[in-house]
Amino acid sequence: MNEIDALLTEERKFPPPPKFVANAVVNDPAIYDEAERDPEAYWAREAARLEWIQPWTQVLDWTPPHFKWFVGGKLNAAANCVDRHALGPRRDKPALIWEGEPGDKRTITYGELYSEVTRFANALKSLGVTKGDRVAVYLPLIPEAAIAMLACARIGAIHSVVFGGFSPDSLRDRIIDAEARVLITADGGYRRGGVVALKANADKALAETPSIEHVVVVQRNHGTSSEQISCSMQQPRDLWWHELMQKAPEGGDPVPMDAEDILYILYTSGTTGNPKGVVHTTGGYMTAVTSTTRNVFDLREDDVFWCTADVGWVTGHSYLVYGPLSNGATCVMYEGAPDWPDKDRFWALIAKHKITILYTAPTAIRAFMKWGDQYPARHDLSSLRLLGSVGEPINPEAWIWYSRHIGHDRCPIVDTWWQTETGSIVISPLPGITSTKPGSATFPLPGCSADLLDSNGRSIPVGGGLLALTRPIPSMLRTVWGDDERYRKTYFSKWPGRPDLYFPGDGAKRDEEGFYWILGRVDDVLNVAGHRIGTMEVESALVEHPAVAEAAVVGKAHELKGQALAAFVTVRASHQSSPELATELKQFVADKIGAIARPDDIIFAADLPKTRSGKIMRRLLRDIAEGRALGDTTTLADAAVVEGLKQQYESLEP
Ligand code: WTA
Repeated sequence: MNEIDALLTEERKFPPPPKFVANAVVNDPAIYDEAERDPEAYWAREAARLEWIQPWTQVLDWTPPHFKWFVGGKLNAAANCVDRHALGPRRDKPALIWEGEPGDKRTITYGELYSEVTRFANALKSLGVTKGDRVAVYLPLIPEAAIAMLACARIGAIHSVVFGGFSPDSLRDRIIDAEARVLITADGGYRRGGVVALKANADKALAETPSIEHVVVVQRNHGTSSEQISCSMQQPRDLWWHELMQKAPEGGDPVPMDAEDILYILYTSGTTGNPKGVVHTTGGYMTAVTSTTRNVFDLREDDVFWCTADVGWVTGHSYLVYGPLSNGATCVMYEGAPDWPDKDRFWALIAKHKITILYTAPTAIRAFMKWGDQYPARHDLSSLRLLGSVGEPINPEAWIWYSRHIGHDRCPIVDTWWQTETGSIVISPLPGITSTKPGSATFPLPGCSADLLDSNGRSIPVGGGLLALTRPIPSMLRTVWGDDERYRKTYFSKWPGRPDLYFPGDGAKRDEEGFYWILGRVDDVLNVAGHRIGTMEVESALVEHPAVAEAAVVGKAHELKGQALAAFVTVRASHQSSPELATELKQFVADKIGAIARPDDIIFAADLPKTRSGKIMRRLLRDIAEGRALGDTTTLADAAVVEGLKQQYESLEP
């Protein structure tokens, strides 16, 4: 039996535009061979893009499942992101262009960022924070989030950013696990026109977190004429950010960090169990995010780079803060929702700030498709020259829509596969070299090596299987905070006797030309009459239908087939759901992929249940399809969505 069947064939292929190739930062394909011949030498060259306080003596020390990069080297992440630009040629270059949801704006140059970061670093020191201490960050997407992270890095404190949309309980669990001494939060932030009362949430969490000594609170509207968000301050624990900053001096030396000293912890929930604190260290992480930001996004001096992710996710850590700032780039940061005040906010931002590189997620792209083509059409998007995607497999039709309506068939798309655990992009095109196929993340980047294996560890040259990373990447997690056994079990024990193989938990297929296609989490793979079907391909077939914007496919128990397919489908604003459309969609999938993948049920949904980072939660849809009580819903962004679907599904049953 196959690990996973490969069902869909995608024939379209797009070579990089010749004009793009001519000017690309990386356009010599020899880079792949060179890196393959000597991956350590490749990463050592990339590490030289950073400023080191002390050189390393050994590139890689690998004792599976553990490894160390740049052994003996010393550097400081914040100094690389701020000082070397502010005290060098980029003092007056904008580092952050920020826009709040209500429309308030701030532009911070590298010189100003230096002042903010060093002052806040000194403020943290005045609270007694020293190297190795943990600092929890629970903020809206405002410049202070980046400043707080960099200030921690400057003094060697370990930050643990918790997404501002998480509940008091989630915040509490993460603070307790990391034993954080300080929490940095805000009175509130804005989302879809409303106020998210962060400090009030934090207060609930703080009732059960004895390790916290101080809470630093950013006044979100400080210095503006807008009304302040009310919150209560508890003396002497709680301190206002702006008051601390008034007293804090600028400057001071960054703490020299060992390459293997911890830079941050970031919690990731996965599908089961309590969240894991993914541990990232300094030298390898900074090397890989600096290198991939430059090479994958073709970053140039005059680019305006917008990664739409929140700092609460790894994408925000690596490609909103550390990667772009280390390269001295100008980054756009937007606090709020894409549909506030209207569904064209993203496109208005691109036109206004002349954004050149956009990095966003398939879940957002499918929402844009659902809302309609008229929203991007209203704005001048001609500044864009490169588009990126991350977070889920991008369905080929969503890829084509993105390319046409946002990139105007002119911008290469980089579909980037990676994880919180890998820290930086692993499988992705290099836009000046790689031909792309819609839905494929293409090939492992230079210096990265992957394979497709069956459960016995045999390589599958062409077809579907389990994705494995066969060599450590500098930015990969070093352990799970406080639980090294969980690190070994989760990531390095899939293939017995092979503790060198990293298992990311994803299924993938490889085509005749070696392109990788991520098929989704192996936990979500369906088994229909002995055929192992990844969710991605059936969903992509559905999204090819002109009426469909988004689809999620799950298995439900079936007497004869083992499992049958249930498809939850969101239709585009321009179309209507109907029983006839349901019948048509079942046939459409059968025609595209084969009768084996014909869904038994089509359930029309206004929205699909998603995690707060935008990933579809198929586990809950499975519960609905099998008529079970819903499992753990704590990571769900909007609980009303699944309750509504459950009722709808039950009324559908004969
Ligand atoms: C999925 C986000 C297909 C995958 C950076 C991975 C993707 C998980 C892609 C990690 C992509 C991410 N194509 N699937 N381009 N990018 N994924 O930790 O299942 O939030 O294992 O990191 O998202 O999600 P995480």
